[in-house]
Amino acid sequence: MKRWKGLPVLIFITCLTVALSACGGSADLGKLGKTDPSDVLVAYFSCTNHTKSVANYIADITGGTLYEITPEIPYTSEDLNYNSDCRANREQNDDSARPAIKGEVENMEQYDVIYLGYPIWWGQAPKIIYTFLESYDLSGKTIVPFCTSGSSSIGSSATNLHSSASGATWLNGKRFSGAAQRSEVENWVNGLNG
Ligand SMILES: Cc1cc2nc3c(=O)[nH]c(=O)nc-3n(C[C@H](O)[C@H](O)[C@H](O)COP(=O)(O)O)c2cc1C
Repeated sequence: MKRWKGLPVLIFITCLTVALSACGGSADLGKLGKTDPSDVLVAYFSCTNHTKSVANYIADITGGTLYEITPEIPYTSEDLNYNSDCRANREQNDDSARPAIKGEVENMEQYDVIYLGYPIWWGQAPKIIYTFLESYDLSGKTIVPFCTSGSSSIGSSATNLHSSASGATWLNGKRFSGAAQRSEVENWVNGLNG
């Protein structure tokens, strides 16, 4: 029986297609890239303005709406003194802690993409971020986490948030230093869209 001469070419094309799709070009970006600036919310919590600075850059770059997650009871410097038995430490050690938020996002339903920023506290997101996520129905939205820290990576801090908004599409998060420059933030945001 004569062998079909196109067979090696077909095998090559099939292998190439499988290899290219395995390279991750098909990551699920949810609604990112299909959005109008008015569909983008940049929500953040920040006590010493590091995360706020990154959030400001993201809002400026995307044209999104900035929303500060404001605690009902503000954190004093004693509350943040992590070398003591401070409020922040006690909350991080309490699975059920959900510090109350002052106010709320108006028209949450209008947003498709939420950039969600927080400082790393003991390797994790502050519990107020859980309060935020559990306050809304975020099903169908795309959440892009980002954080600032002294030196820790984003680690498991973002993936541990997923169950508090399980109906959302979660993108991989990004950690910035407290002194992150706009260009670094811009490269990351533009890379997400690409
Ligand atoms: C209670 C507490 C715990 C912290 N834990 C960590 C940590 O585990 N790793 C780290 O690199 N930085 C840690 N930091 C430093 C903050 O993540 C860092 O200063 C951050 O940029 C602060 O952001 P903000 O100014 O937006 O609040 C901690 C700070 C506080 C107050």
